[in-house]
Amino acid sequence: MQTLKVASIQNQPKFGNIGGNLHDLIGLLPAECDLAVLPELCATGYQYRDRDELRSMAEVIDPGQEPGPITSRLTEIAMASGTTIIAGVAELVRGRSEKVFNSSVLIRPDGTRDIYRKIHLFLDEKKLFDAGDLGFSVVEACGIKVGMMICFDWIFPEAARTLALMGAQVIAHPSNLVLPWCPEAMITRSLENRVFTVTANRIGREMRTDSPLEFIGLSQVVSPGGCILSRLGNNETGAATASINIVETDKKITAANDLFADRRPEFYR
Ligand code: ACM
Repeated sequence: MQTLKVASIQNQPKFGNIGGNLHDLIGLLPAECDLAVLPELCATGYQYRDRDELRSMAEVIDPGQEPGPITSRLTEIAMASGTTIIAGVAELVRGRSEKVFNSSVLIRPDGTRDIYRKIHLFLDEKKLFDAGDLGFSVVEACGIKVGMMICFDWIFPEAARTLALMGAQVIAHPSNLVLPWCPEAMITRSLENRVFTVTANRIGREMRTDSPLEFIGLSQVVSPGGCILSRLGNNETGAATASINIVETDKKITAANDLFADRRPEFYR
């Protein structure tokens, strides 16, 4: 039996106040936590006015290179606390054709890291970010298999399904949700894939363009059986924590049904 303590962190960042936002996020991390998921673009805020502004706050997170300040600080915290941290960060990729991705970085307590680049961009993100080019992947962390997706990826069931088929037991889901449906939809994503999902959202408003955004909170941890193990409200910061047992991600649904062995992909076209 393998139980872990997981947490979904819900913050209210002030746009551009990276130091203050990081301080608040770190203050929300529970003690003795195995895996903590932080929101999308968790330390910068979400509503960049243009690509230049985004670029000025984006940082290197690629595992082969020296990371930027947000990733460095979170690495210090992961190493000191023993918590694997997954956080949404604007990722700068330098080169002949520079790119900026809406990414998440998974940081282990030994300082190693893996990244995911958001594949399904939402609304104005299409004007600001480059679309993710790495595909989905599942990595080992804190003794389990973790897959990452970001916010709007939720509306494409293929995202969670792909991660589950790759072996994910927990899907870490940094988010900045504005549409109302995701928290309920993630119950189905958990159930139909028999995985734990940890959705970390933010609260508050941003009015930096002529399209104000209101973030819906409701950060949560959902079990493979579709139970909401922990959920925050839509106007509070904090940590939604849960003790999870990885055995529950077994794909056997009944004595005669295995979720993956029973698939009939030849009819799914
Ligand atoms: C979103 O993908 N941030 C809604």
